[in-house]
Order: sequence, then C-alpha cells, then structure tokens
Amino acid sequence: MNRRVVVLLASALVVLAGCGGKAEDQGASTSASPAPAAPAPAASKVLAKSLYDDGPRAADSPVDAAAAAAGEKLFTKKGCTACHGWGKKLTGPDLKDVTRQRTAVWMEHQILHPDVMVKTDPIADSLFKVYKLQMTNQGLTESEAKQVVEYLKKRDKDGK
Ligand code: HEC
Repeated sequence: MNRRVVVLLASALVVLAGCGGKAEDQGASTSASPAPAAPAPAASKVLAKSLYDDGPRAADSPVDAAAAAAGEKLFTKKGCTACHGWGKKLTGPDLKDVTRQRTAVWMEHQILHPDVMVKTDPIADSLFKVYKLQMTNQGLTESEAKQVVEYLKKRDKDGK
C-alpha cells in the first residue's frame, strides 16, 4: 500500500467517523424531541355545586375537647400557621368563623386534598381566585384532619 492510499483511507475513515457521529447526534435529537402534542386542555371540571357543603355547619355540633387539643398541636406542627391566622389574612384565608361557614366534611376534604378541591370544588375554586395561591397538602391523616377541624370549632366557640 503506498503512502497516498493510506492517507486516503485515513481520511475516508475520518469522514465515516464524522458521519457516524452525526447520525448518532441526529438519533439523540430525535429521541429528545417533544412528545406528541398534548391533548387540548379539558374544560374546567369545577362542579356547579360542592359535594361537601350540605347539612349543618361544623360549628353546629359539639366540640370534642380531646380531639381539639390534639388538633391545636397539629395546626402548628403541620405548618398551617404559615398561611392561616385568626382575625387576619396571611397568604391564606382568615380562619375566624370558618366553622360557621363550612361543614366539617368540606374542611376535612380541603385539608386532605387541597389540590383536588381547587380543581373540582366551587368553594375552593372561588377562594383560589381570591388568594391566587393553592393550599398545599400538608400530609395529614384522616383522623388528624378531624382533630384539626375540632380545634377550628373550639376557636370559633371560644370566640378567639
Ligand atoms: C401554603 C399556604 C397554606 C398552608 C400551609 C395551608 N393552607 Fe389552608 N388555605 C390556603 C389557601 C390559599 C386557601 C384557599 C384555597 C386555595 O386557594 O387553595 C386555604 C383554605 C383553607 C381552608 C378553607 C378556608 C375557608 O375560608 O373556607 C381551611 C379550613 C384551611 N385552609 C385549613 C388549613 C389547615 C388546617 C392547614 C394545615 C394542615 C392549612 N390550611 C395549610 C393556604 C394554605
């Protein structure tokens, strides 16, 4: 093999390698290309009427004192104080008299599934429009949510 042929072969290899590289790049960019267009956003699923707003208001039932005491601790421990106060608005609604406005079950749902409520419940949706903030899920269990509701009831009964 003469020197010229070797040089030609070498450059052919370089070109081939170059092509290979390019092909790989193209492959990569193809697989990284955006997923097929997302379906058009579904129409708002906020219900015309809340599923949890029927019946007596939470404040109409007696307070379970032991549960309220546990709920008071949870209210701080679970970070509710970051966004809620009484007699004042923080980033979230003023909770004074909330138990005279809402049913216990509505508040339990708001505490346990605020993300779902904001998308489906007309009351949560209207609050969201005012506060422009979605309440975060603070990871309470169902019984913890009930205890917190007892605490909210106690505050309203005590007029605090
Ligand atoms: C990041 C701020 C934030 C935290 C933390 C938070 N909330 Fe909320 N909360 C909101 C906002 C904002 C709303 C209004 C609904 C919405 O926009 O999602 C709300 C709504 C509520 C309501 C209904 C108020 C009404 O007027 O009907 C209750 C009750 C409530 N929160 C209780 C709690 C409890 C209990 C905790 C702790 C477990 C908690 N929140 C933690 C921001 C927060």
